[in-house]
Amino acid sequence: MDLVRTQCYCASAMTDLVLTILPETPNDAHAIERLHERTFGPGRFVLSAYRLREHVDHIAELSFTAWIGTLLVGSVRQLPVLIGDTPALLLGPLTVEPPFRSRGVGRLLLERAITDARAQGHKLIVLVGDEPYYSRAGFKKIPKGRVTMPGPVDYGRLLVLELVDAAFEGVDGPIRPDWSRARA
Ligand SMILES: CC(C)(COP(=O)(O)OP(=O)(O)OC[C@H]1O[C@@H](n2cnc3c(N)ncnc32)[C@H](O)[C@@H]1OP(=O)(O)O)[C@@H](O)C(=O)NCCC(=O)NCCS
Repeated sequence: MDLVRTQCYCASAMTDLVLTILPETPNDAHAIERLHERTFGPGRFVLSAYRLREHVDHIAELSFTAWIGTLLVGSVRQLPVLIGDTPALLLGPLTVEPPFRSRGVGRLLLERAITDARAQGHKLIVLVGDEPYYSRAGFKKIPKGRVTMPGPVDYGRLLVLELVDAAFEGVDGPIRPDWSRARA
């Protein structure tokens, strides 16, 4: 493990596992893709969030992997989007290997993604996910009709987290890739 990959925190009160949380690197791509395939199957590509991801790379320094030794057990990614004209992050997928679920891995990945996004000056995170899970980290449902996404999406699962007080006030419109950071 090289020096860049030593940014982590290990064993926490939130989990009984000895976990290492690291920023994602290009070497992780294959293992993460297999995790996504196992978790979401081929149907994932038609989902709205995946359509956005086709155009913009996730931000490596705001995307994290969870490890037990050399075994990758979880991943979370964030990519840059605009809501109307307001910059935001789209969080997801957040995925944990089935045998390691309900041990706090997802919570730790989520908290690291949020903490680092805030530290880097981001103001809003949006995601499509289950409100009962993400509300523990402060995410709230976006009122229907205020924000749209490309492709099929269950608007009851569209959530937002304000990293700065009132950052979502007056924000509306389509969620689209932030082309200023799009792939060439
Ligand atoms: C959702 C997911 C990432 C959670 O990871 P995890 O490591 O199991 O989560 P944690 O250990 O931090 O939290 C577990 C708790 O969350 C609850 N939970 C897990 N998924 C939930 C969901 N979809 N809705 C509500 N609660 C949920 C568990 O019941 C457990 O509750 P408890 O603490 O009261 O026992 C994981 O279950 C997963 O990979 N699921 C499949 C992919 C997915 O749906 N990802 C999210 C959408 S992108």
